[in-house]
Amino acid sequence: MRIAHISDIHCNYGNDFNEKVFEKAVKILNNLDVDLVFISGDLTTEGLVSEYELAKKKLEEISTKKIIVPGNHDERNLGWKLFPEFFGDTDFIHTFDEITLVGLASSEPDRDDGRLGRGRHKRIQEGIKKDKMTVLGFHHHVVPVPNSGRETNIIEDAGETLDIILKNEVPLVLMGHRHVPWAVKIHKTLLVNAGTFSCNRTRAHFGNTFNIIDIDKDDIEVTVVNILKDKKKKMIEFNISDGCCDNRYYDVDNKI
Ligand SMILES: [Fe+2]
Ligand SMILES: [Fe+2]
Repeated sequence: MRIAHISDIHCNYGNDFNEKVFEKAVKILNNLDVDLVFISGDLTTEGLVSEYELAKKKLEEISTKKIIVPGNHDERNLGWKLFPEFFGDTDFIHTFDEITLVGLASSEPDRDDGRLGRGRHKRIQEGIKKDKMTVLGFHHHVVPVPNSGRETNIIEDAGETLDIILKNEVPLVLMGHRHVPWAVKIHKTLLVNAGTFSCNRTRAHFGNTFNIIDIDKDDIEVTVVNILKDKKKKMIEFNISDGCCDNRYYDVDNKI
């Protein structure tokens, strides 16, 4: 199974949204033969109706099935009321042939950080099925992400969340928010962050990126796509059964 993990699109009519990059990214994405697109939030910048309308329209250009959770920016200005109108449930458990995808809203209205809370922690446990790979997806990160500035936005119950993830050996967690791609294996879990798909607020040379996640039985492989350069670089490989993890992210500098 191949999942495109995209994040932080930031549709708006100000300086955030780079439509040219978005168009190029969609072109690359539509040629990748993915089974599913998971979007880990920040579809808008201020959570305004006009931005939601723009996001809805632009996302129609992606031909594959899309599964979406909200980000902190989508909940600004009462945007949390708009998200379900435009994109459906913010919290869900979807079952596919190979995976169970648990999507959660980690955002709180008008705050840049967030929380999952006990209700969503319960949801994670409900979504864990022994016969399928469990994939968890939400906007915020649970451990600090390197190359993304001072740590201020981690979810307030990151400790409890991480504890549930690690104790249950959830193999894969997909997140966004920090606008840089990153992956790390902790215990038997791969934590993966997607960079920003089309926001002008990129960091250093990371540029605009998205991740391709290839799942083949017990193997998970994450590749970063640099959109402007149309270049791919394998970031990490993880085998759930033997626990082996090959992280090539630090082989060279951060240029992808
Ligand atoms: Fe963002
Ligand atoms: Fe965010």
